[in-house]
Amino acid sequence: MQFELVVLPGDGVGPEVATEGVKVLEVVGKRFGHRFKLHYGLVGGIAIDKEGTALSDNTVRMCQDADAVLLGAVGGPKWDDPLAKVHPEDGLLALRKELGLFANLRPVKVSPVLVDSTNLKPEVIRGVDLVFVRELTGGLYFARPKRRWQTSRGRRATDSMTYSEHEIERIVRVGFELARSRRQKLTSVDKANVLESSRLWRQVTMEVAPQYPEVELDHMLVDACSMRLIQNPTYFDVLVTENMFGDILTDEASMLAGSMGMLPSASLAGVPREGVKTFGMYEPIHGSAPRRAGLNMANPIAIILSVATMLRYSLGLPAEAQAIEAAVDDVLQEGYRTYDIMDEGKTKVGTKEMGDLIAKKVGG
Ligand code: IPM
Ligand code: MG
Repeated sequence: MQFELVVLPGDGVGPEVATEGVKVLEVVGKRFGHRFKLHYGLVGGIAIDKEGTALSDNTVRMCQDADAVLLGAVGGPKWDDPLAKVHPEDGLLALRKELGLFANLRPVKVSPVLVDSTNLKPEVIRGVDLVFVRELTGGLYFARPKRRWQTSRGRRATDSMTYSEHEIERIVRVGFELARSRRQKLTSVDKANVLESSRLWRQVTMEVAPQYPEVELDHMLVDACSMRLIQNPTYFDVLVTENMFGDILTDEASMLAGSMGMLPSASLAGVPREGVKTFGMYEPIHGSAPRRAGLNMANPIAIILSVATMLRYSLGLPAEAQAIEAAVDDVLQEGYRTYDIMDEGKTKVGTKEMGDLIAKKVGG
């Protein structure tokens, strides 16, 4: 089969890890007889430098015409000036919005191989297998007003958290659908003791729930959830939450798996269903890590697992996805580690070497 894919390497370590993701993809193509036609585009800081905007119409169009998009990372100190008119992150947010990618899936699975080498006690994290469903095109990130202004008593700024019933319902459904195909447990995370938008969130979730009687639903306040994630993470199966809450909680949850460098994500335009192809953008959850850029240090596993997720959800190729996931497990099992997951007695490798090792395994 032939597929059209857009690759947006972005900034910082983005291009380095994207190279490894593409390397693995190409080996999959060879082994399983698929052709992946790659179109490279600009987003983020590099787009600001080269095109004067964090996301050009041209890049958006390319993505709209593709079967899926693979993204590295955006941002860096060069573009961090708070007074700047445009930031690299604006490009990523606009891309999510333009492509209608409202559902961000972030699975956190603790590899048995790494269970003894994270900052947390093995008995707490053993067996963790949860998925965040983060709302991605609404909430605090997008609602208007969002601005800064001068008053007679100094400067003021505002962001606001707004949700419509429609936005809540469609994301909560993704949570229910996913829970239904897993361990049938959904935790909806909100701040309904304080925020009106969260009260609506909770109400809509409760209204949708009867359509999924097999799923056990509970509601958890976001502060309590952040505690429970560290205290008893095996409690969770699927969690569904607002954009900003999801951003914060998924960085926290990544430490269960040992490093942000391990976690893939899928941003989808619809409900993921077995056997149905859903358009999506795939990216590691880690950022551009500017201090590591150009040093062949970054862990490429997050983007390589993002490639696997892309094969599964957007291209309808589950066996191919599995081949990648198995290869990652094997390489870790053999003791190879990038700096972020390095442990005593293991073999330290760089970005490129880790990519080569995984690609070789996928090649069979
Ligand atoms: C993420 C990142 C982005 C976000 C940034 C880079 C805008 O932190 O994907 O979690 O906040 O959504
Ligand atoms: Mg984040």
